[in-house]
Amino acid sequence: MLASNRTADSARTKRLAVAGATGLIGSQVVAHAVALGHEVVSLSRSMGVDLTDRDSLGDRLEGVDVVIDVTRPSSMALEEAISFFTTVAKNLGRASAAAGVARMIVLSIIGLEKNQDFDWYVATLAHERAAREHFANTQVLRSAQFHEFPEQVLGRGLRGDKAEVMDVQTQPVASREVARLLVELAIGDQTEDVEIAGPQPEQLVNLVSELTRLRGDEIEVVPVPVSVAMASGSLLPGAEALLRGETWLAWARRHYGREH
Ligand SMILES: NC(=O)c1ccc[n+]([C@@H]2O[C@H](COP(=O)([O-])OP(=O)(O)OC[C@H]3O[C@@H](n4cnc5c(N)ncnc54)[C@H](OP(=O)(O)O)[C@@H]3O)[C@@H](O)[C@H]2O)c1
Repeated sequence: MLASNRTADSARTKRLAVAGATGLIGSQVVAHAVALGHEVVSLSRSMGVDLTDRDSLGDRLEGVDVVIDVTRPSSMALEEAISFFTTVAKNLGRASAAAGVARMIVLSIIGLEKNQDFDWYVATLAHERAAREHFANTQVLRSAQFHEFPEQVLGRGLRGDKAEVMDVQTQPVASREVARLLVELAIGDQTEDVEIAGPQPEQLVNLVSELTRLRGDEIEVVPVPVSVAMASGSLLPGAEALLRGETWLAWARRHYGREH
C-alpha cells in the first residue's frame, strides 16, 4: 500500500518502505513520514506482505530510496526469533539490492553485545548481523527501552498479585521520538550508526511500581537480580547517544491518565 499527502513533485520527497508498518514504531514512522510529505510503502502481514516469504515482497521496493526495518516476531523464543530476523533480513536485503535501494535502517537495542546471556538480545544481534550481511548500506539505530516497556514487563512478569521485574537501569525514550528519528535518518545524509535514549536513567523496578500506582493496581513489584553486565548499566546509552523527548514519568502521567 502506498500512502502520501503530497504529489512527488518535490526533489526532497523520498519514497520510504516501512517493514513492520503497523507496529508501535512502524505506525508512527508512517504517520510522521506522510505528514512530512514523503511517500510510504507499508509492509506487514496485515498489509498483504509476509516478509518471511521470499516471494511476498514482489516489486514493492521498486523506486524506494530507503527501507526502514522495524519488524518484530510474534514469538520471543530464541530459535523462532533468530529464524524470523535472519529470514526477514535476507529477504529485505536481497530485494533492496535488486531494486537499487540506497540504504536500509534497522531498529535495534542499546547494549546488545554486552548481554548475550539474554535470548532476546542474541536474536536482535543476529538481526543486525544478518541485515549487514545481506545489504551493504545498512545503518543501525540502537534505541533504549521505549516508554511502553514497563507496561510490557509488568504484563510478562505478573503472577497473581505479584510481578517479577528485572532490577536493572534503563534510560527510557518515547517511541514517538524513535519514530521521528528514523524518518530524520531516512531523509538525511548521515549513514553512521546512532543510539537514542530518553533524558535520564531510571530503575525499571521504580517505573513499574509507579505504573501500578498510576493505574491504581494492587500489585507487589518483586525485583529480580540480573547479570553482572546488566546490573552495571549495560542498557544505558553511550556518550554519543542522542537524548530526546520527555521523561518516562511526564509521559506516563499523561498516558495512564490519572494520579493517586
Ligand atoms: N520494546 C522496546 O522497548 C524496544 C526497545 C528498542 C528496540 N526495540 C525493537 O523495536 C522493534 C519494533 O518494535 P515494536 O514494538 O514497534 O514492534 P510491534 O509493535 O510488535 O510491531 C511489529 C511489526 O512487525 C510486523 N510483522 C511481524 N511479523 C511479520 C512478518 N512475517 N512479515 C511482515 N511484517 C511482520 C507486524 O505486523 P503484522 O503483524 O501485520 O505482520 C508489526 O507491524 C523490535 O524489533 C524491537 O526489538 C524495542
